[in-house]
Amino acid sequence: MSATASAPGKIILFGEHAVVYGRPAIAVPVLQVASRVTVEEAESGVHVVSSRGSRTLLPGDLNGDDPIAAILRHTLSAIQYPGFPNITITIDSTIPVAGGLGSGAAVSTAVARAMALHLGRTLDAATVSALVYEVEKIHHGTPSGIDNTVIAFGRPVYFMRGRPIEMLIVPRPFTLVVADTGIAGLTKIAVGDVRRSWEAGRERFEALFDRCGDVARRARALIEGGRPEMLGPLMNENHAALREMGVSCAELDTLVGAAITGGALGAKLSGGGRGGNMVALVKSGTEAAMAEALLRAGAKRTIVTEVGGSFEC
Ligand code: PMV
Repeated sequence: MSATASAPGKIILFGEHAVVYGRPAIAVPVLQVASRVTVEEAESGVHVVSSRGSRTLLPGDLNGDDPIAAILRHTLSAIQYPGFPNITITIDSTIPVAGGLGSGAAVSTAVARAMALHLGRTLDAATVSALVYEVEKIHHGTPSGIDNTVIAFGRPVYFMRGRPIEMLIVPRPFTLVVADTGIAGLTKIAVGDVRRSWEAGRERFEALFDRCGDVARRARALIEGGRPEMLGPLMNENHAALREMGVSCAELDTLVGAAITGGALGAKLSGGGRGGNMVALVKSGTEAAMAEALLRAGAKRTIVTEVGGSFEC
């Protein structure tokens, strides 16, 4: 008897950082990468097997900060499972780590679903999202909740902290090229630096956050109005605001510049910044050439993704 569940990667298309301060943001699943988790019966204890090696969790470990132990603890509590299960959790993920593609939230999502399934329960997306949010707090300190939401629902979202989740309607799909600087993104540090800068200059930072929020609202109207090809200038404007916040870096700026020079409709860093990934909007049919241009400009890997589908787990 075994149970398997998967969860996609994600990128933030508009509004990162400002979303922590209550402005809207847009995130979309990246279906070309995923975390896949299988849970099966074991003789005793919880064994975790992944490409990073194997380990065994003891009942006492459940209270610690280990992310797998944490999602286990929250899931067992949500399904009111009495005691400690005897299971092997096998994690297989193609989502690059520390790149702003949501690898941690995707693994947690797949573990929660596969474990609940193995124990004879199913969890709805909102419940999974809330459980994963608890684990995200360990990684990120004060996460806005956008990662767990887009990954648990597996659909494009228009997200505002503390507001009911809104799915984004995408009547006309569009194509993105995501490129990795190869530098580990430093979301927690970038979020902390933005907070310090905001405390030191609230007026300037509130204005920057407003600009990002405005961009996200206009982007939503274009996406839902079936005019995604017009999103480019909004991506460029969002990147400029993120640079002003101090969360870009030379490598991200180089890739964004190369995307624009290579004919992208728009480009920006995505996620926490200081490394990780950038994203370019391209005309359908030009994605292969754009991926090559980004690799020539120093990207370590690229992913071509189309926004408009949904993830079946
Ligand atoms: O680096 P990522 O993709 O996990 O994105 C972080 C997004 C921030 O807005 C910077 C932080 C947050 O919690 O929303």
